[in-house]
Amino acid sequence: MIETLYWKDDKLFMIDQTLLPFKEEYIVCSDYLSVVDAIKTLKVRGAPAIGVSAAYAMALAELANEDMFYVAKIIKSARPTAVNLMWAVDEVLSGLNNNISAISTANRLFLEDKETNRLIGKYGSTVIEDGDTILTHCNAGSLACVDYGTALGVIRSAWNDGKNINVIADETRPVLQGARLTAYELHRDGIPVKLIVDGAAGFMMQQSHIDKVIIGADRVCKGGIANKIGSLMVALAAKRFNIPFYVASPLSTFDRDSNINDIIIEERNKEEVSCIGGNYITSNDIDILNPAFDIVSSDLITGIITENGIVNPF
Ligand code: MRU
Repeated sequence: MIETLYWKDDKLFMIDQTLLPFKEEYIVCSDYLSVVDAIKTLKVRGAPAIGVSAAYAMALAELANEDMFYVAKIIKSARPTAVNLMWAVDEVLSGLNNNISAISTANRLFLEDKETNRLIGKYGSTVIEDGDTILTHCNAGSLACVDYGTALGVIRSAWNDGKNINVIADETRPVLQGARLTAYELHRDGIPVKLIVDGAAGFMMQQSHIDKVIIGADRVCKGGIANKIGSLMVALAAKRFNIPFYVASPLSTFDRDSNINDIIIEERNKEEVSCIGGNYITSNDIDILNPAFDIVSSDLITGIITENGIVNPF
């Protein structure tokens, strides 16, 4: 499996996800601000991977003897929606309070993420039947985590358990995490995957080509979850055609004190919409909206697959 990120010689190495699938190149971060930049520019993305890289950003700041409370604020402001970012920085801060170094906490979160995803996979595999075709949206795979993945972790576990499954991946506009990352990861592992445009998901369900939907989450809170823009339309279509809709998410993505109205939905730059692969697809006087996430309410969710088992949305 491709390594999303690793720590070596007091530096953080991360595969540049903006270049995938065509180039496998690692960026090297030797100060916390370069990690913040990588998070903002989606070189590293996906809630768990953002969390672990943020913890390593704190470790870089510790090595440079920075003011850790100031740095924590800067890192937390890199992206607003995935709660793993705030959670990981707070884990490092509370470790520091107990004389545990930032690097020790970052290494712990790194190892726990691997373990967590395998448990999510183990529990999630129980809902997958031999012969299922599973639709997924965005990338909740090894690239969104330290490795293995949450939604794709469930798919990997079912596949490793010998179930004959097929995956349909939404391309996931605007920045195509489904086409560039999910299809690439699964194909690399030999798991059968077919790519569709986002607008085809409802039709595929109507034509009985989908047995289950599994997606990841950026935040799980009272009343529902936030995930990549387009998740809501997938969930609504799944409800209409009685298709089980699962969210695979570690407990580090749970924000039990908040409800869906508190979630800040990141608005990203207009060029993500107007420009694909360096080519403009609309005239430059067209106004653009680019919300990066949407909210799937609890009534649309069959279950949330966590490292402690499958729980009901709350
Ligand atoms: O903007 P991104 O690529 O960071 O969005 C990622 C997603 O929406 C994922 O589905 C989510 O973070 C879960 S990853 C296990």
